[in-house]
Amino acid sequence: MEKFYITTAIDYVNGAPHIGHAYEKIATDVIARHQKQRGKDVYFLTGSDEHGIKIQKTAAALNMTPKQLCDSNVAKFKDTWELLEIDYDQYIRTTDENHEKTVQKIFQKLLDKGAIYKDSYTGLYCSGCECFLNEKDLTEDGLCPDHLVKPEEVKEENYFFKLTDYKEQLKEYVKKAVKPEFRVNEVLNQIDDIRDISVSRSSETLQWGIPVSGDDSQVIYVWIDALSNYITAIGYDTEAPSDKFKQYWPANCHMIGKDILKFHSIYWPAILMALDVELPETIFAHGWITIDEQKMGKSLGNVISPASLMGTFELQNVDPIRYFFMTTTPFGKDGNYSDEDFKAKVNSDLANNMGNLLNRSLSMLCKYFDGEIKPEFVSDSLKDKALQTPPRVLEAFDNYAIEQAAEAVIELVNDTNKYVNDNAPWTLAKEEKWQECGQAIYNTLETMRHVAVLIYPICPNIAQDIWEQLCCEGKVSEYKISELKWSDLKIGKIASKETVKPVFLRIDSEFAGDKKKK
Ligand code: MSP
Repeated sequence: MEKFYITTAIDYVNGAPHIGHAYEKIATDVIARHQKQRGKDVYFLTGSDEHGIKIQKTAAALNMTPKQLCDSNVAKFKDTWELLEIDYDQYIRTTDENHEKTVQKIFQKLLDKGAIYKDSYTGLYCSGCECFLNEKDLTEDGLCPDHLVKPEEVKEENYFFKLTDYKEQLKEYVKKAVKPEFRVNEVLNQIDDIRDISVSRSSETLQWGIPVSGDDSQVIYVWIDALSNYITAIGYDTEAPSDKFKQYWPANCHMIGKDILKFHSIYWPAILMALDVELPETIFAHGWITIDEQKMGKSLGNVISPASLMGTFELQNVDPIRYFFMTTTPFGKDGNYSDEDFKAKVNSDLANNMGNLLNRSLSMLCKYFDGEIKPEFVSDSLKDKALQTPPRVLEAFDNYAIEQAAEAVIELVNDTNKYVNDNAPWTLAKEEKWQECGQAIYNTLETMRHVAVLIYPICPNIAQDIWEQLCCEGKVSEYKISELKWSDLKIGKIASKETVKPVFLRIDSEFAGDKKKK
């Protein structure tokens, strides 16, 4: 069985999760579910990044220990992932004992191999980024461009990693592994500018981290600690890696945001090269979500949590949220959220097009044929259209173009709507052309069976609902895309008035606005 190992960035847990964090986890979950539908042995890792100055400072300000702060926020992250139906296999915390021990071993191995040396250093540290910044990267006022705060001047004796040793190898790697392709040049330019990086902090400034074993004066740099999660989680060990590690490594995809691409496409592969560990296949940098075209942030007061989104619109399940974020922008580019766009998109695609098509076809089946599919209804009018869709979906996912996969499914739905309108089963019924009427309904319902399977990774609840209303056996999640053949819809009674219900209720156009005003 082919394996597929996919990871998300591990979140800083100095606050509660917002839809930016959620966006990445949804995308990763969608890809993982799709790969399972392809019959792969998928392993999906997510987690939390708990050490570093940022957490240490937030905890101190709240009068908590860093661990208490992390425990409390990790619970919020996990609850949110459950709400969004993020079906991960493992949640790693960088405070896990095994992780901490392995990171110390990794550091030791790098020292033993001569990839790390000690030197004194003066630099400008931004605790928001958890990294040193170059003077030339700052704003005119000397602020970090991402966090708009003045970086701290730091003079310390640190351990350094010989990043510059890997320049040429990194360039070759980045050309193959970094996706989307439009990001490659940006990374290649950064490689031209690299210097050796500081990989430890003085334990006087940073207490909340993994100590360098045998050197109490130093704590391992949070990015070395954090990046290592991708291998420590699955049992990497400097002497005897576990079977799980052998099974799943190298990762097929590290899914991360564009802001942390440098760490993943330069620092991480160089560390792996120094450790003689294979390199990940793809590093995919997704775009950022803005709210009403503005950067989301505490200072602007526009942070949206996934739970509040569910509440505002009184959603029955998370599918509309998943669907909106996966289709609002070409995956990889920045996207925007607004209440209006959200309502318009999900009402149009999920309620009017997809839900309504199923609903009216099943209602006609009940009205004209008492919910029964008769053998003579089987026909091929939509067969070609339906069977052209899975290859398009597969290709889209091969390119991480999630929105294109959704578009292919919605196109099939739109074509089927047109087919129903053109064939007008209600007129055929009036004319008592029963076989033709039954065939028109059959084509629609059999297509909807394909739609359920293909939309499943994005909308698992709606997909299962369609699946059940079509009287298909088992769980749609277990159905493989390769099993999709034409005319597998059950013959016989599949529906009754009681079983036919909308798969997605339109969001009333006034509804959310009213609630918000209150
Ligand atoms: N802890 C580091 C990652 C270490 S990975 C070895 C970190 N954490 S974070 O909490 O700041 O961000 C976690 C992920 O969420 C990142 O991939 C980041 O790009 C993503 N996002 C945070 N805000 C976002 C948006 N507004 N929109 C989309 N993704 C965003 O970085």
